[in-house]
Amino acid sequence: MINVIRTKDYEEASDKAFEVMKEYLKPGKVLGLATGSTPLGLYARMVKDHQENGTSYKEIRSFNLDEYVGLPISHPESYYAFMHHNLFDHIDIPEENTHVPSGLGEDLEGQARHYDEMIDACPVDIQLLGIGSDGHIAFNEPGTPFDSGTHVTDLAESTIKDNCRFFDNDITKVPTQAVTQGIGTIMKAKAILLIATGSNKAKAVKEMLEGPVDVSCPASILQRHENVTVIIDEDAAALLG
Ligand code: PGA
Repeated sequence: MINVIRTKDYEEASDKAFEVMKEYLKPGKVLGLATGSTPLGLYARMVKDHQENGTSYKEIRSFNLDEYVGLPISHPESYYAFMHHNLFDHIDIPEENTHVPSGLGEDLEGQARHYDEMIDACPVDIQLLGIGSDGHIAFNEPGTPFDSGTHVTDLAESTIKDNCRFFDNDITKVPTQAVTQGIGTIMKAKAILLIATGSNKAKAVKEMLEGPVDVSCPASILQRHENVTVIIDEDAAALLG
């Protein structure tokens, strides 16, 4: 079941997302976290809440969705660095409680299987998601099987273009592969919170909510999950019937 919350703009979407997330900021909870521009407003609210209200993350664990292949964690655009810079360094979550898939190593597929085993042993209570302009969730591009586990994938051309802005607008600097939680991994989360804002997400949002459940729009599988909240602003909702 998808519960759709419509907001005016990005700031209001971030406020609503924080309201949903707040219920999970409790000892023992397992958060599934995401990168990209979309969750920045939510993360800023989580940091503010930690600083002002003392909400503690000492007994919270987290699993991130994905990481670029080949970027060292010290690279400012690695998702490891993103998470530290935008959230982990500003809250009291112990480093050992946080997990970001590694995009480095000799046996990326073996590491990916291990990542799924860790998630199976520690099921995610709420998974935060953005959506790509091509309907991807994490780096599960169109065509990815719905039952996929964590795996190495090639990025779609449109994703490389979308992410160019983080790499000096130089397309040759954008990694072409990533390690990503699979759609099957994501669907195991007990609850899912997807945020989509801006007109470049409108087509993907329409396909996710009103289209058939089909691998051509990876996010459409969320129609089959029992507990999904989708928060969209006016621009992202523009094409809905
Ligand atoms: P964005 O990316 O938040 O940077 O728009 C979303 C995504 O690709 O999932």
